[in-house]
Amino acid sequence: MTDKHSKKTGPTAHETHEKGAYKDETMQAIHAQLMREKEEPTEGFSQMPIFLLFIFGALMFWGGIYLANYSGSFRSDVFDPNWHPVPLGEGDITEAAFDPMKKGKKLFSRQCQQCHQAEGQGIPGVYPPLVDSPWVVGDEERLIKILLLGMSGPIEVKGESYNGNMPTVGMWSDREIAAVLTFVRYSWGNEASPIAEEKVTEVRASLGDRKTPWTPDELLKFHPM
Ligand code: HEC
Repeated sequence: MTDKHSKKTGPTAHETHEKGAYKDETMQAIHAQLMREKEEPTEGFSQMPIFLLFIFGALMFWGGIYLANYSGSFRSDVFDPNWHPVPLGEGDITEAAFDPMKKGKKLFSRQCQQCHQAEGQGIPGVYPPLVDSPWVVGDEERLIKILLLGMSGPIEVKGESYNGNMPTVGMWSDREIAAVLTFVRYSWGNEASPIAEEKVTEVRASLGDRKTPWTPDELLKFHPM
């Protein structure tokens, strides 16, 4: 009974002593100093679970490998299909870096495919085929001229008659025209020689001021089959 009583009421001798000490001026100064230096204790603080540390570590590791493989050296032009390591015309590496077949394929699917179809097979009676067409695999100059000025009028391709409008792509660069022609001359079973950019430049210069499209007959007069 006495035991219980003494525990419940009033501070113990030890506590009383501490309280007395707390009142002491030097102790108060030390306490104030400690309070200033220590951060306010916050509620709910607990240590980070160790497995999170491993997950973050693994993510950093993966991120490092990913960047090493796919950063493209952080160049801004990694997605440019016309990218050249050095300005054009400054050595052999430049020419090797430009792939006319790749560029030509892109240009074809954007600008020719809707008429001549994905495999260059054309649509009988409407759009002539590019596969195995003597207009495609034959004379280079005749072919370049079709693209530079366009063509309209009756034409026969592989025994089938057509009479439509072949639009010009003369506003393209010589390099682009050479690329798309190189592509159509060497795709779907066609196996004709590539067309050089310089050849397009030469043919373009020979046209002078002419803007009107060709007729097939006219082209055949200059460049017979
Ligand atoms: C709007 C439809 C259309 C587009 C786009 C088009 N052509 Fe044609 N192309 C024609 C037509 C129509 C003819 C036949 C012209 C005629 O009747 O005189 C033709 C004819 C040709 C010919 C000669 C005939 C043959 O079949 O060999 C070639 C070569 C040719 N086109 C290549 C191209 C290339 C390369 C492109 C893309 C740069 C292209 N064409 C884009 C409609 C098109």
